[in-house]
Parts: sequence; C-alpha cells; structure tokens
Amino acid sequence: MSDTHDTKILTVAGKGGVGKTSISSAMVRILTEEYPDARILAIDADPAIGLTTALGVEPTDTLDGIRKKIVNSVEDGHPKEAIEMLNEARYRIFDTMVEENKFSFLAIGRPEAAGCYCKVNAYLKEVISLLTNDFDYVVIDGEAGIEQINRRVMEKVTHLFLITDPSRKGCKVVDTIKQVADELVMYDKCGVIVNRVKEESIPYVKVESAEILTYIPDDKTHADNDIMGVSVFDLPEDSPVMKGTREALHKMDLI
Ligand SMILES: Nc1ncnc2c1ncn2[C@@H]1O[C@H](COP(=O)(O)OP(=O)(O)OP(=O)(O)O)[C@@H](O)[C@H]1O
Ligand SMILES: [Mg+2]
Repeated sequence: MSDTHDTKILTVAGKGGVGKTSISSAMVRILTEEYPDARILAIDADPAIGLTTALGVEPTDTLDGIRKKIVNSVEDGHPKEAIEMLNEARYRIFDTMVEENKFSFLAIGRPEAAGCYCKVNAYLKEVISLLTNDFDYVVIDGEAGIEQINRRVMEKVTHLFLITDPSRKGCKVVDTIKQVADELVMYDKCGVIVNRVKEESIPYVKVESAEILTYIPDDKTHADNDIMGVSVFDLPEDSPVMKGTREALHKMDLI
C-alpha cells in the first residue's frame, strides 16, 4: 500500500478489564499474519502499559517521556532548546518505536500531571497523526473510555471496536461510548465484541447501539498466558480469543 490516505486506524474501547488489551494485541498478531508486507503500528495508549507485555515488546521511552523532557526544558529557562526539541520530536518518536520483525510499537506513557501543557500535547497529537500516515494499519489499545483517546492520541479512527463483558454495566458503557463517538463523528465503522461470555448468557446480552460482531467465550489458555506474561503470539491459532478477534476483523472488512 502506498496511498497514505488509506491508513486504517483501529481502536478498542470499553469498561475496565473487559479484554481491550487482549483483543487489540490479537488484532496486531492477526494483521501481521494476514498482511506480512504491511506497515503495522501498535500504539499503547494506556498509562498502565499493558499492550507491551501482551505483544512481548520492550520500548525504551514513551511519548509522554519525550513530552516531559520538552516541558522541563521550558521550565528550566531554556526556551530555545525546548523549541529545538519540539522540532526534533518526530525523530525522537521514531526512536521510541521498537522495530519488531512484523510491527512497530509506540507507548504513550503516563498521562500529564497537574498543569496544562495543551500546546505541547496538541503538537504531539499532530505528530502522531503525521506518524500514522507512514503506516497501513494502526492499532490503538486505549484506556477505558474514549474521551482520553480523543484527547490524547487521535482525532479520528476508522474502525472502532467496542468491547464488553456480558454484564449490563459493560453493555451500558459501550452504548455511552458509542453515543460520544457519534457526537464527535470520530469513526467510519463501529462494532461490538462481547468477551468472556457463556453460551447460555448470550440471549441476555443487551447492546442497543451497534452490531455485535462476535461473542468470545472464556479462554483458559489466554488467561493462563496472561498470568505468566506470555505474549499473544504464543496463543494457539484456534483459541477463543484468536478465533473471535478474527471473526470481528472479518465482519469489519479488515481481513
Ligand atoms: N476471553 C477471555 N477468557 C479468559 N480471560 C480473559 C479473556 N479476555 C480477557 N481475559 C482476562 O481478563 C483480564 C482483563 O483483560 P484485559 O487486560 O485484556 O482487559 P482490558 O480491558 O485491557 O483491561 P484494562 O481496562 O485494565 O486495560 C486479563 O487477566 C485477561 O487475561
Ligand atoms: Mg488494557
């Protein structure tokens, strides 16, 4: 692919602990397998940096680390240096990307402390959107909720995956996020993944705002791997998390 306007930006959103990191890391794996020649970027937008372990990568610096250095330089009274650093930010961001065999990785890091660095944040957001032009696929693992993603990482995604467990609360969160996303007009396609659901609970799952792409049952191997810090690349091909994620990507016309 060479047309930069074609970049597909996938992201996951949903209540805490519903499987966003599990599913987004499975997406990265499936895309690398389906499109070995594609340029794929995985972005960990969660300050807790969970995607790192899930994908088995170790980034050296985070985007927020770079931002802090820029801000500190301003506060130390070296404005010229700060401006230079700002100009170099794009190259520095490339430095923080871990070039794996099949995908690049960027961690956003911890959110800003008290105080407003809106200008710098806005600049970094701009840098990320420039950066995404260099890739065919970008997969963003977010914090719970979508406002943060909008504020900190991206203006717009192409494919929004809403993740929930079968709980009524999880489903309500999904409906709310969908509403916010609609108001901000921030996606092209949207679908729901219901994770960790027992067969007999399926009739009771109530999501009203978007199509349910797939139901993923309990995946013991995945849960065990997660405990031991084993990456998603070691999951069996036919494990529920892999199968369900594949079905969801297929229904969203991504594979
Ligand atoms: N289908 C599944 N079967 C069994 N365990 C699962 C399944 N999906 C996720 N888990 C487990 O549930 C826990 C939460 O999953 P995960 O970290 O992917 O959720 P999350 O939405 O990213 O959480 P957070 O909001 O904290 O970032 C993990 O321990 C993970 O191994
Ligand atoms: Mg997570």
